[in-house]
Amino acid sequence: MGAMNLEYLEHHARHIPALARWHHDQWSYLNPQRTLAERAERLQTHLGGRQMPTTVVAIDGDSLLGSASLIDSDLPTRTDLSPWLASVYVPQEHRRRGIGSALVQRIVEEAEALEYEKLYLFTMDQERLYAGLGWGTFERAVYNEVDIVLMSYDLRA
Ligand SMILES: CC(C)(COP(=O)(O)OP(=O)(O)OC[C@H]1O[C@@H](n2cnc3c(N)ncnc32)[C@H](O)[C@@H]1OP(=O)(O)O)[C@@H](O)C(=O)NCCC(=O)NCCS
Repeated sequence: MGAMNLEYLEHHARHIPALARWHHDQWSYLNPQRTLAERAERLQTHLGGRQMPTTVVAIDGDSLLGSASLIDSDLPTRTDLSPWLASVYVPQEHRRRGIGSALVQRIVEEAEALEYEKLYLFTMDQERLYAGLGWGTFERAVYNEVDIVLMSYDLRA
């Protein structure tokens, strides 16, 4: 791997179709009604820097190595909570080198800069990774018949 940089999606909008495809293949079982085209359209609304919603991508030259987003709402059953870290994704061949953790940390920093007090996420199977990054579990739930864990990060700690 060369130098990995974290940059706003707005500077890499050409990667939106690839990103939408990754996210769709990874998560369509959770929200089966959401189409690939809708995912790409939604990412178009992330084309700003320090704002919500935003998406940060991990980039090495022309290669896309991952993404993470800061969004208003990620769980239809918990619209009382906001904002959310969402769509953390690193392709298989680039995993276990710290890229996912770096993306998570960057979204934490974005939320801090926007002066939010807390950040939320839900995960099916990455509770340990997030716990290691300072996130705390506050609830276990079932969403669309899938077991999920809700976690939060205290930005004022
Ligand atoms: C979850 C995901 C984003 C993690 O991405 P990643 O780039 O592999 O993340 P990291 O490398 O930072 O951390 C992954 C593990 O590798 C370990 N690791 C980090 N750097 C490492 C290194 N240089 N050598 C060996 N292991 C390393 C981390 O400690 C972590 O271990 P843990 O899971 O036991 O805590 C990635 O696996 C993925 O995209 N999965 C599918 C989508 C998904 O589940 N997303 C999360 C939704 S909540």
